[in-house]
Amino acid sequence: MPDKKIKQKIYKQYSKVSDAYVRSQSHAKGIDLEHLITMTKPEKEWIALDVATGGGHAALSIAPYIKNVIAIDMTPNMLRTAKTFIREEKKVLNVEFQRADAEDLPFNDHSFDLVSCRIAAHHFPNCQKFVRESSRVLKKGGLLLVQDHVLPEDEAVAQQVDQFERLRDPSHYRAYSEKEWHMMFKVGGLKVEKTVQLVKQHEFVDWVKRMNNTDETLCNLVQMMKNAPNAVLDWFKPFPSAKEFDSPQARFVNHHIIIMGRK
Ligand SMILES: C[S@@+](CC[C@H](N)C(=O)[O-])C[C@H]1O[C@@H](n2cnc3c(N)ncnc32)[C@H](O)[C@@H]1O
Repeated sequence: MPDKKIKQKIYKQYSKVSDAYVRSQSHAKGIDLEHLITMTKPEKEWIALDVATGGGHAALSIAPYIKNVIAIDMTPNMLRTAKTFIREEKKVLNVEFQRADAEDLPFNDHSFDLVSCRIAAHHFPNCQKFVRESSRVLKKGGLLLVQDHVLPEDEAVAQQVDQFERLRDPSHYRAYSEKEWHMMFKVGGLKVEKTVQLVKQHEFVDWVKRMNNTDETLCNLVQMMKNAPNAVLDWFKPFPSAKEFDSPQARFVNHHIIIMGRK
C-alpha cells in the first residue's frame, strides 16, 4: 500500500478517537513515562520534540523539567484535543503544538536536545526515515528515545503477533524486534545507550473498543487468540486462558521496548 494511503488511514482512524486517547489510562500513566525522565535525565535549558504526540502524555511528562516542548502529530483533531488537555486542563504552558509528519520533520538540523516518540512508530511506513530525521534534527550529543511495541525475534511468531495488533488497529503498519531497532538506530547515526523491555497488561475489550472497533472485529480477535499456536500464547499470556478469551474479564499482555540512542 502506498505511504499516502497508509497515512490517510491513520488520519481517519485517529480523528475519531482523540478523546479516548487523551483519557486512556494506559497512555496517561505507566512506568514508561517515568523511564522517559530517568533515562534521559532532562536539563532545564533543553528543547524537546515529541513526535506523534497523540494525547500528549509524553510531552506533558517531560515539560516540567525543560524549557520547551514542541509536540507534533499528523492528525489535527488529536493535536486540538491534546492542546486543550495540556494548556487548559493541566495548565502547562511550555508545550507548543504543530502538525507535522514524523518522516519529514519541518525543523532545521541540530535543533533539539531530545526527540521522544512514544507508542507510535508502528504506524510509520518508513520507520528508518523517522529515525534518520530524528537524528538530523538532534544537536550533537542529543538523545532519541523511542518507546513502541516490540516483536519477538522469531520471525514466524513475530508475524502473528503483529497481525493481531493490525486487526485491532488497521493503521498499525508494523512493529519491530529489538535487533531491528538497534539496526535502525545504527543506520541513523545514533549510538544506543540503553534498552529496556516492558510487559504491558491490557483489558482486552477496553483495548479493542478504544479503537472504535465493531463486535465483528472483537470476535475475530477472540478467534485469533483461541487458534494461536503455543509460541504466540507464550508471548500474549491470555487470561483466564486462550479458550476462555471471550470472557468479559479477558486480559493479555503485549511487550514494549524503550530504546535510547545518542547522536
Ligand atoms: C497511540 S497515539 C500516540 C500516543 C502518545 N505518543 C502518548 O504518549 O500517549 C499514535 C499517534 O501517532 C500519530 N501518527 C501516526 N503516524 C504519524 C506520522 N507519520 N507522523 C506524525 N504523527 C503520526 C497519530 O496521529 C496518533 O495521534
